[in-house]
Amino acid sequence: MRDPLVCGDPIAERRYAYARTAARDGDWAAAAEVLEQALELAPNWAPAWFALGEARERLGEKDGAAGAFGAALAADPSDAQGARGRLTLLGEGSRLDALSPAYVARLFDDYAARFEAHLAGELGYRGPELIAAALDRLDSRRFSRCIDLGCGTGLVGAALRERVDTLIGVDLSPRMIARARESRLYDSLEVGDAVAFLASQPARGADLVVAADVLAYIGDLGPLFSAAGCALAPGGLLAVSVEAMEGASYGLGRSMRFAHSQAYLRATATAAGFRSGLLTEASVRRETGREVAGAIGLFEAGADTKICGP
Ligand SMILES: C[S@@+](CC[C@H](N)C(=O)[O-])C[C@H]1O[C@@H](n2cnc3c(N)ncnc32)[C@H](O)[C@@H]1O
Repeated sequence: MRDPLVCGDPIAERRYAYARTAARDGDWAAAAEVLEQALELAPNWAPAWFALGEARERLGEKDGAAGAFGAALAADPSDAQGARGRLTLLGEGSRLDALSPAYVARLFDDYAARFEAHLAGELGYRGPELIAAALDRLDSRRFSRCIDLGCGTGLVGAALRERVDTLIGVDLSPRMIARARESRLYDSLEVGDAVAFLASQPARGADLVVAADVLAYIGDLGPLFSAAGCALAPGGLLAVSVEAMEGASYGLGRSMRFAHSQAYLRATATAAGFRSGLLTEASVRRETGREVAGAIGLFEAGADTKICGP
């Protein structure tokens, strides 16, 4: 089957390369014009539509940008470039529940090799350490089976391995999983989606589920919290980090990351059968030199079997 990210027409590719250079130089009008010419030759080439959307947005042409991002999505329904997110930011389309798996996998496959150096250095990332400290403060138990959602390269494994008997990791990005495998910290690792993975786990088989800097890619946390509630034994803990926002809901920011309000987290946890929650304001990373407001949440699974089916 044809890959919508691949062009195949050398002249269209040359025009695209020229447009990228013009965009880098800030000449968005030239970029848009040449991209339109590239698309005359390769009308189903998703990256050219996406780049045209970006150029038109820079030119203040909101409707034209939305049209181009919409065409990018039509050319690549898996949405590996995140066109749906860009449409959401333009105020178009229905509410976005999560960034597409294809987008997340591509983003982190591209990022995997420099992930740890960039996060720990430039962004001052400390999500796993803050989650470990919050767990220490709440109780000192040892966990028998921990599921690390969106495990990435294995930083949560490094922070928690000492107090966990069996450590299981899942991530959408094969290259992040390959790095986690090199760490030798995990008992098992799988490429896959967090919610689908939780649903495949034995009911009540885990006593700790962690999502460190993962919920930034998922808006609607209902399915994840419900699946975690089923995978956790009563008294087991769901430990998360989030980026914070005011209000009662969640939203996608310009950084293409979701933020969640404390009220939303509490309501979603209660609806999923969690008994109690502890939310602590904490920033887990910087962005453009500034601390990003956030929170660490610990939620204790209840004994309500209704939500887990038969
Ligand atoms: C910023 S990294 C954090 C990695 C790790 N948890 C840490 O603290 O270093 C986010 C990771 O979540 C993964 N991810 C995002 N959404 C996911 C989903 N729905 N299912 C599984 N993994 C996901 C990404 O592929 C990426 O590796």
